[in-house]
Amino acid sequence: MTLTEAALAAREHAHAPYSNFRVGAVLEDEAGEIHSGCNVENATYGLTICAERVAVFKAISEGARKFKRIAIAADTDDLTPPCGACRQILWEFCGDIEVILVNPRGKQQTHQLSALFPLPFSDRFFR
Ligand code: THU
Repeated sequence: MTLTEAALAAREHAHAPYSNFRVGAVLEDEAGEIHSGCNVENATYGLTICAERVAVFKAISEGARKFKRIAIAADTDDLTPPCGACRQILWEFCGDIEVILVNPRGKQQTHQLSALFPLPFSDRFFR
């Protein structure tokens, strides 16, 4: 299974009864292991967590520390990019990785995170 196929498969697990907008994300670590996530919504709305952050936090909690790329799947013609909060989290844990966007009809685009998030805040400002 390719990384984009894995992201589409992860999307099938989305819990999105409020928005009906299902997202899947798969993070590949330096060893080639994949860590998948989907969006998990909550009745409070505000406690909803995006697919990308689920994938990152799962990976970190399992001991992975270095990452190569992330694939993000949603069913939109204009491919869905990560939200601002997820860009910050991706920068913190992954640095300038490849971000691959995909939809179920096979449309695909690749961006560097630094292009999506050009002036990042990080610990370099206070370390
Ligand atoms: N969502 C994601 O999972 N990732 C994104 O990058 C954008 C938004 C989810 C959050 C919420 O469950 C739904 O999409 C609608 O905002």
